[in-house]
Amino acid sequence: MAPFDAGRLLLFLFMPLFFAAVDPSVDASTQVCVIGAGIGGASFAYFLKQYSCSSVNSPCLSEIHLFERRSIVGGRTAIVTISGDTFEAGASILHPKNFHAVRFASLLGLRPKLKSSEFKPDSNASDSSASSSWFGIWDGSSFLFKTKPPPPASSSAIYRKICSFINAIIIFRRYGFSLLRMNRFVNKMLESFLLYYEGFESRPVFDTVEEMLKWSGLYGITRRTLKEELLDAGVSSLLLSELVTVITRINYGQDINISGLAGAVSLAGSDDGMWSVDGGNWQLAAGLINYSNVTLHLKEEVTSVSYAEGHNYVLSTKEGIQYHCGITVIATPLDELNITFTPPFSIPSRRLQHTFTTFVRGFLNPKYFGLNHVSEIPNLIGTVEVPEVPFSSISILKKYGKEDMVYKIFSRKIMQDRLLDEIFSLRIETVRIDWPAYPHFEAPEVFSPIILDGKHLYYINSFENAASTIETSAVASENVARLIISRLSDEHQNMANKKFNAADGDLFHLDL
Ligand SMILES: Cc1cc2nc3c(=O)[nH]c(=O)nc-3n(C[C@H](O)[C@H](O)[C@H](O)COP(=O)(O)OP(=O)(O)OC[C@H]3O[C@@H](n4cnc5c(N)ncnc54)[C@H](O)[C@@H]3O)c2cc1C
Ligand SMILES: *[C@@H]1O[C@H](CO)[C@@H](O)[C@H](O)[C@H]1NC(C)=O
Ligand SMILES: *[C@@H]1O[C@H](CO)[C@@H](O)[C@H](O)[C@H]1NC(C)=O
Ligand SMILES: *[C@@H]1O[C@H](CO)[C@@H](O)[C@H](O)[C@H]1NC(C)=O
Ligand SMILES: *[C@@H]1O[C@H](CO)[C@@H](O)[C@H](O)[C@H]1NC(C)=O
Ligand SMILES: *[C@@H]1O[C@H](CO)[C@@H](O)[C@H](O)[C@H]1NC(C)=O
Repeated sequence: MAPFDAGRLLLFLFMPLFFAAVDPSVDASTQVCVIGAGIGGASFAYFLKQYSCSSVNSPCLSEIHLFERRSIVGGRTAIVTISGDTFEAGASILHPKNFHAVRFASLLGLRPKLKSSEFKPDSNASDSSASSSWFGIWDGSSFLFKTKPPPPASSSAIYRKICSFINAIIIFRRYGFSLLRMNRFVNKMLESFLLYYEGFESRPVFDTVEEMLKWSGLYGITRRTLKEELLDAGVSSLLLSELVTVITRINYGQDINISGLAGAVSLAGSDDGMWSVDGGNWQLAAGLINYSNVTLHLKEEVTSVSYAEGHNYVLSTKEGIQYHCGITVIATPLDELNITFTPPFSIPSRRLQHTFTTFVRGFLNPKYFGLNHVSEIPNLIGTVEVPEVPFSSISILKKYGKEDMVYKIFSRKIMQDRLLDEIFSLRIETVRIDWPAYPHFEAPEVFSPIILDGKHLYYINSFENAASTIETSAVASENVARLIISRLSDEHQNMANKKFNAADGDLFHLDL
């Protein structure tokens, strides 16, 4: 709660006319409350600290309270432990051009490790046992397409290069120049996205997602489906129904009717040089929270946010505690939450895509895939859009023996024991996670406002309808941090100007 400010009260008493238009709800010493300690909330706290007190006019918002309903931070970046080894359970890969994430990792002393992406045809991963360069596209009854298995780890570098070259040729032979057209589409998106890293001089503050996307030139591809965009770019329907479908199913659990931007982002996930944080991507959030010196409230679930008399937000938690905040920032998707807002507001309804992530340590059953030996099954099995296929992908995470491995399965529905028992001949350990994973992307996308109530209630995840990644969360939160600073500075500025004008008015009243 902001301390009572007698000076300010005096100002109000004496100049009511001049301050009538100014929202008096926030003063510089006010408390900022953030709901959600995923990468969005964590990076928001970081940026707000960075931008606070950075110039004469910018307010100092030093008190940040971060609320997290779970006992750990990280949200959709989390790890899972199978047989004593840890694996990424949620967001697993970062793009080399995810510059906020790159900078966070370096700032926090976290080690990036090169990673073969969930889908990457010509993987260069040093750990060839977990390499997904060997992939196949499964249609429920046969493999439509398979690359060659990787050479043994003992083979020479030259031989390995040749093998990867051969795979590139195999892929090119099937899909031809459509691959280049697809790359061009993805690169164009990446280039536009890079504008969000420009300095303040050339990059405006945005108060809506639409404005933010229009400025970079990315709005258009949120209006149309990936399928429409790629067909227009001259991509063949074979590439669309196979490779592109495989990738959108792996990265967003959805088909090629997802909106173009989300589609381009998911295709970028098969670029070279993908990486992850050694020990788990959740450490980005954890590190930023520690670095920013915020007050972290773990196991405190916010159940209501009311704008109250006295011009403050009152946050109530399930645990029965109330907090007073001058500014409230929502850093989690609201779509499946039961937070009560007073006064209420309405935002466009959005369906979240649930992705079931199932980890199995066990032996795959080659018969399920019409094969004789486990060694014939590709390291990554992608699937096409046919109703009979009960999963989106199966990939190897770690090999313990010739058949004994840890697999990760993505699916749109829960993988029941009965189904798993068909796919695996033996299961040693099974872990299932049901993620409310990302928006169900639908073109044309509609976006919720960033400023939800016209005052100081902000929503970072309104940007998620554009695309949902660690980096887009950081980009969206950076904008919200800047927006808050800018709006408070304006209020500050307005007050100063009005004061000045008032003085002018007194001195030059003859002019009126
Ligand atoms: C299976 C899967 C794979 C993915 N793969 C990738 C990938 O490879 N690369 C990539 O970049 N992205 C990937 N993503 C997307 C990425 O994980 C998300 O876009 C990103 O982590 C979202 O971060 P966030 O902070 O906005 O939200 P979240 O991480 O969801 O954080 C929100 C937090 O708010 C908390 N919370 C919610 N309600 C309340 C409340 N009422 N009170 C207090 N706390 C509350 C939640 O517990 C949570 O910790 C993947 C996602 C999933 C699910
Ligand atoms: C995409 O949408 C079109 C038109 O609504 C529909 O015909 C098609 O089946 C959908 N799915 C795919 C994979 O194209
Ligand atoms: C590929 O492997 C080589 C040799 O191991 C390494 O120097 C290079 O950085 C790797 N490149 C990528 C993109 O992983
Ligand atoms: C937390 O941040 C401080 C510096 O602000 C740093 O010295 C410390 O190592 C960090 N701790 C963790 C666990 O990252
Ligand atoms: C961290 O926050 C505490 C409490 O608000 C404050 O006393 C301390 O000086 C802060 N430390 C840094 C490094 O900002
Ligand atoms: C929200 O409330 C509805 C209806 O009361 C309930 O069915 C649902 O499970 C609740 N969701 C969460 C995330 O608590």
